[in-house]
Amino acid sequence: MGLNDGTFQRGSYNLKRSRCHFFKSRVKELSTKIKMGLVPQTMLLTAASELVRNMLKYGNGGIVQLEIVSNNNSITGVRLTFEDKGPGIVDIKLAMKDGYTTGKSLGMGLPGAKRLSSEFYIKSAVGKGTTVTIIKWKNG
Ligand SMILES: Nc1ncnc2c1ncn2[C@@H]1O[C@H](COP(=O)(O)OP(=O)(O)O)[C@@H](O)[C@H]1O
Ligand SMILES: [Mg+2]
Repeated sequence: MGLNDGTFQRGSYNLKRSRCHFFKSRVKELSTKIKMGLVPQTMLLTAASELVRNMLKYGNGGIVQLEIVSNNNSITGVRLTFEDKGPGIVDIKLAMKDGYTTGKSLGMGLPGAKRLSSEFYIKSAVGKGTTVTIIKWKNG
């Protein structure tokens, strides 16, 4: 696969609004590097945008990690982890429902990101923060 060719393959960023564009470029760079198709790449970027938006809007910003990962069948993918130390989510099941929002917006961010991802994990503790991890495999 030539993943150890010295070019960018993982990173960790403390996100502020000004660094969003930089972060999205790195996601694109990683997914291009593993030859992810254009459709899954666009899905990943859309999911990432929603999760960054939530982190900035509700979680007071936080850290994003980007990594190339592979599964048991040596399929590669991109894993993104969004970790904030914001107020947390009281009812995750409710927050995952289409149309649920406390921010007067569409309430499609979390459920949309889940649908667009290959794998989606969320954990949250009230008063401590929220961590969302997604993986997009290169073939979908
Ligand atoms: N990182 C987060 N920290 C705290 N609450 C969050 C976070 N992300 C999402 N939420 C909560 O989950 C709700 C649903 O999120 P989402 O589906 O993205 O819809 P929207 O952003 O339009 O409200 C938000 O309104 C908010 O209450
Ligand atoms: Mg949202």
